[in-house]
Amino acid sequence: MNRREMLGAAALLGAAAPRIVRAAAPLPDTTLFEREPERYWSRIRKEQFFLPEWRVFLNNGSLGVTPRPVVAAMAEYMERSAGLLMDEYPRWGYETLDEHRAEMAAFLGCKKEELAFMHNATEALSTIAGGLDLRPGDEVVLTNQEHPSGRSPWLMKQARYGISVREVPIPLPPKSPEQLADVMISAIGPRTRVLAFSGILSATGIIMPVRQICDAARAKGVITVVDGAHMNGQIPVKLSDLGCDFYAGSPHKWMFAPAGCGILYVREEMQDRLWPNTVTGNWDNTKLQAARFMMVGTNNRAIFEGMIAGLRFFKQIGEERIYSRIHQMAKSARAKAVRLPYLELLTPDDSRMYGALVTFRLPRDADLTALWKTCKEKRIWTTQSPQLRLSTHIHTRPRDLDVFFDVLESTVGRQSRA
Ligand SMILES: Cc1ncc(COP(=O)(O)O)c(C=O)c1O
Repeated sequence: MNRREMLGAAALLGAAAPRIVRAAAPLPDTTLFEREPERYWSRIRKEQFFLPEWRVFLNNGSLGVTPRPVVAAMAEYMERSAGLLMDEYPRWGYETLDEHRAEMAAFLGCKKEELAFMHNATEALSTIAGGLDLRPGDEVVLTNQEHPSGRSPWLMKQARYGISVREVPIPLPPKSPEQLADVMISAIGPRTRVLAFSGILSATGIIMPVRQICDAARAKGVITVVDGAHMNGQIPVKLSDLGCDFYAGSPHKWMFAPAGCGILYVREEMQDRLWPNTVTGNWDNTKLQAARFMMVGTNNRAIFEGMIAGLRFFKQIGEERIYSRIHQMAKSARAKAVRLPYLELLTPDDSRMYGALVTFRLPRDADLTALWKTCKEKRIWTTQSPQLRLSTHIHTRPRDLDVFFDVLESTVGRQSRA
């Protein structure tokens, strides 16, 4: 058999497919991390991501960056599926994807049977809000800091079914996790049926004391829904430790998944309380447990191959190592912000209350035109609003923060001193 025939035979067996995207280099040796951590992280950025030198990316909280192994896994799956090289339909939407769910569940800290894959946190949150039976007059309590994807499905339910939605103001900056727990728990009233809140608040990056809130809610018979879009990958977290009933995640933000991947967690005891939203056959097959919620018709499975590759990449570098790096970078961003008297810092000093997101308000009367213009010229991406949020991930370089703060000082800082 010549080489060509051998390749053909291997492909027929589904063993190997030619790659249209080059695999990433192996990760730098861990001894490099111990000897020269800055060089280790710099090589990770250069060798494992497609990010060009000139990009200063500080908005991972809105959309994560897909590393090379993830793109390679997707491309390989697309190629293999285009050739029908495997013996199963190359899709998701009618499949339970048990192996993938088991691997993801082990990382997230829940049972495979409690986990469904979705397209994003938005879809998971809409599925939860849309699928719970509530009556007119039943109350849902939210924080006043929810992302539109966590807030809107309840507002729609209010408009459609006459439930009532109440938003609790979160003190900014909060004094302590205890204060936050107290604010949320004391908001539970006699008609409250659901408490829905973000585990990490989107606009500020503040970490909520999820466990305390969920325990207190459960003791009062109130259902808890946690929007974890910012949690997995930003801070070490196990879903079983959170004590919530429902949970939504967006692994594209911090876990290196490609856009188009989401997570829905439904605690085993709550599975018969939730109606699925998009349905096809098996919508009522409760034996499928959480997988019932991912029977949504034909979808692109390459995305989930990418998600699992992202998860493996994450695990290979290590959850603790990643957290310690990105939190350290956020601390450094916060320290830079503290020195600028014209900023109103919303990220508390207490390390328990933030992970890798730092937020401050720019002066109310500042003209921000020069700031946004210079950010654009220097290819800096942050959130673009007077309440500005910086995200740090493993591809963030110390100099990215320097570049941003230099721009801030030379525009808003100069104005405030004039
Ligand atoms: C707290 C929170 N929830 C939900 C979402 C929506 O996530 P996605 O667009 O991935 O559905 C976001 C997005 O930024 C978010 O910050």
